[in-house]
Amino acid sequence: MNIQVGNTKLNVEDRGSGSVLLLIHGFPLNLEMWRQQIENLSNHKRVIAVDLRGHGHSPPTPGPYSMDLLADDCAAVLDTLGVDGPVVVCGLSMGGYVSFALYKRHPQIISALILAATRAGSDSDQARANREKAIADTKQHGPQPVLDNMLKILLAPDTYKLKPELVKNLADIISLTSTEGIVSALEGMKDRPDSTILLGQINLPTLIIHGAQDQIITLNESESMASGVKNSRLEIIPAAGHLPNLEQPEMFNSIVSEFLASI
Ligand code: MLT
Repeated sequence: MNIQVGNTKLNVEDRGSGSVLLLIHGFPLNLEMWRQQIENLSNHKRVIAVDLRGHGHSPPTPGPYSMDLLADDCAAVLDTLGVDGPVVVCGLSMGGYVSFALYKRHPQIISALILAATRAGSDSDQARANREKAIADTKQHGPQPVLDNMLKILLAPDTYKLKPELVKNLADIISLTSTEGIVSALEGMKDRPDSTILLGQINLPTLIIHGAQDQIITLNESESMASGVKNSRLEIIPAAGHLPNLEQPEMFNSIVSEFLASI
């Protein structure tokens, strides 16, 4: 379904009933990455998954897409859908950066956090320089170079060998991201603030999920988040990279279900 948010429309999937689990995807993905969570977790929850602007079936708008802007979009979607009462927010990677912004700007709408394959810190100088290069490449050559590069690192090395159909599915999912969506998201991530300061303030049940073979987020970064948030627990998913929800969906869903039942 399309939901009007400010001057644009966002594609949103809203399934199941009961208390809400909001799913926020990573870059350069879209809500389709959550297909197995939407199917499974909506048996017990109302699952709302959003295509962030410029991703999936949400059209691009002029950038940059700051994490604050994307967080406000998510808050507006909940408001338009008439969600009253706080929700569990699950963000993966860039979706985690957006979750921190949501916590900073709209803490009253969050009851618990699931931070998957993400980090609290801002970009290092090197990471910022890499993003500048990716932005320039995308403006010059279109989306394919960045999509090809991301496709090589999003999954665990073993997943590429053992699950070729998943690699193909992932290529199809990311192929929806346009030049403008990629550039605007990279600009927003490049300048995102350091959220480390927030960790000590988060007083919500928090689940941190790390794929043991993540090529983008280090275990150290996940452990730092876990030690920074008082009421948190860290789960490490074996045989998974940066997309543990896609690579090990049963394990991911059972860890999330257990967490949801515990809060
Ligand atoms: C993501 O998966 O959202 C990205 O890898 C995050 C990033 O580039 O920092």
